[in-house]
Amino acid sequence: MEEDRIKELISEVKSFRAETSEELEKFRIRFLGRKGEIAGLFARMKEIEPGARKQFGLLVNELKRKAEEKLAAKKPKAQKGTDASAAADLTLPGEPAQTGSLHPVTLVRNKIVSIFSRIGYTVSEGPEIEDDWHNFSALNFPADHPARDMQDTFFVAPESESEDAPLWSLRTHTSSVQVRMMETTPPPIRTISPGRVYRNEAVSARAHCFFHQVEGLYIDDGVSFADLKQTLLYFAREMFGGESEIRLRPSFFPFTEPSGEMDVSCFICGGKGCAVCKQTGWVEILGCGMVHPKVLGNCGIDPERYTGFAFGMGIERIAMLRYGVKDLRIFSENDIRFLAQFRGRS
Ligand code: PHE
Repeated sequence: MEEDRIKELISEVKSFRAETSEELEKFRIRFLGRKGEIAGLFARMKEIEPGARKQFGLLVNELKRKAEEKLAAKKPKAQKGTDASAAADLTLPGEPAQTGSLHPVTLVRNKIVSIFSRIGYTVSEGPEIEDDWHNFSALNFPADHPARDMQDTFFVAPESESEDAPLWSLRTHTSSVQVRMMETTPPPIRTISPGRVYRNEAVSARAHCFFHQVEGLYIDDGVSFADLKQTLLYFAREMFGGESEIRLRPSFFPFTEPSGEMDVSCFICGGKGCAVCKQTGWVEILGCGMVHPKVLGNCGIDPERYTGFAFGMGIERIAMLRYGVKDLRIFSENDIRFLAQFRGRS
């Protein structure tokens, strides 16, 4: 009987379970395909006696509906079954996002800038290729004076053979920026100049042909050496801890008079003596002094009226002390294992 066969097909459709999309596709072709069971049944419609035709039609329609429902319900699951590798496993732990980190030189620079910003210093910048005036002459380095040998200089090839062709060099210190500030800004001036500087030195664990400095300058009526000392003490305590002490040793720079070098009590051993301070209890941090009257005059500031102080420090040196780095070269090697250690620091 046709009717029984259709009922059988209906129950077969109901119990059908597909695991893969191939099985589902076979099911679709077998029942709903152009030459499938259902198409075949419809084709036979006209052979059925008119009396039984209605019942036959109803059953075939039911079979068709059931087959379509099955196909629609199974589709997503069967698809997932075959593409297991592409499907997301929501139970897996997330992959950590890789964040970058600030370079230790940037971290120390930012800290120095923040310390001086709090007492009213602005930040000034200038060119890295500098003329002789701003890097040397204005700063009271006389031509051919041995003081120019203090900082081995990378000179830029002169533009012509002529005697008075301008002499360009890579700046050896950011004091050049301070000259530019003094030339363009009437006092009071309170500024720090962070930046990269270059010196013609053999690269080793303790010296590099380029490094970073922060230099500071304060010019106003009645600025004294006592102001310099107090400012440096404030800086040392903010930078290295509230217990820090400083001491000044006499030194020489052509652009300051008197000149000094500042040591800070060793913040590793607290002054008792250790490897970092070479058992002395002190570490050398910066050069400083009162701006030479000739320098003020060179930059258009009246030395009879104004006085000022200046100081300069190497950022890498402070970063080495702070982070226990023994070789200066690592700061410019871009070794991700080194840099990743500074993640999350500010
Ligand atoms: N310009 C000096 C240097 O590069 C540092 C310094 C700055 C010293 C200001 C005294 C005053 O070594």
